Amino acid sequence: DKNGIEQVVLRNVRGASATVSLHGGQVLSWKTERGEELLFTSTKAVYTPPKPVRGGIPICFPQFGNRGTLEQHGFARNKIWVIDQNPPPLPTDSNGKACIDLLLKPSEDDMKIWPHSFEFRLRVCLAADGRLNMISRIRNVNGKPFSFSFAFHTYFSISDISEVRVEGLETLDYLDNLHQKERFTEQGDALTFESEVDRVYLDSSSMVAVLDHERKRTFVIRKEGLPDVVVWNPWEKKSKSIVDFGDEEYKQMLCVDGAAVGKPITLKPGEEWTGRLELSVVPST
Ligand code: BG6
Repeated sequence: DKNGIEQVVLRNVRGASATVSLHGGQVLSWKTERGEELLFTSTKAVYTPPKPVRGGIPICFPQFGNRGTLEQHGFARNKIWVIDQNPPPLPTDSNGKACIDLLLKPSEDDMKIWPHSFEFRLRVCLAADGRLNMISRIRNVNGKPFSFSFAFHTYFSISDISEVRVEGLETLDYLDNLHQKERFTEQGDALTFESEVDRVYLDSSSMVAVLDHERKRTFVIRKEGLPDVVVWNPWEKKSKSIVDFGDEEYKQMLCVDGAAVGKPITLKPGEEWTGRLELSVVPST
């Protein structure tokens, strides 16, 4: 509980944990059984709504970035969600997971800026082996179709940005936010970092890995219903312009998001979309 906002802590039998805030439905912490934090959160983060906390996993919906008329990354991350007491079952439901179900419905004010009635159900689960699962289900309860973009804006905690590489995006096309969203093709091998990066990789395979050489660990991102991967690091200059972010903190974070940005998702009345993300961490050499 920070500033009166409810947080739910999930724990598994081995002592791993995850913290989810009702503010934004945002995961704020994900720890291994040894208590190591796997997600980055800024020391300058502000926990007072409506702005989202700088770090963890904010949810971008119904807009990604500034690709539309809504506020940056949409409004879902700014809202207070409720606990969903009676969530509809999922085919993957099983024992041995600690889960929380949250629900967001638009307020009257939201309907003024985005006039579409939806039910957004978020399930966050911590599995017995420490994996973090996130499932978003978005249903159109409107009389007409609507379209949206989506991202699980995941801030991974890393040893040093110059020590990490991302595998699984080789040869893909990407939209570069630093070049008017122009489309390029990734040429190199794995992605490494030596300057600001702000890209949307299009139509990736279902698995992407973030290798942290110094910490000898690899984050594995598995996704379904989320064709794209956003990669973001603000680097030195942009960091200084972000008020809730330390000047040097870009070295310790990398955002790699499972996302649906390249082609917006369209839902007809009564239709539901599901996007799944699974994060795990494995030792590497
Ligand atoms: C990225 C965007 O995914 O999110 C960047 O592509 C943006 O352009 C970044 O700066 C952080 O956004 P925000 O609104 O949380 O500061």
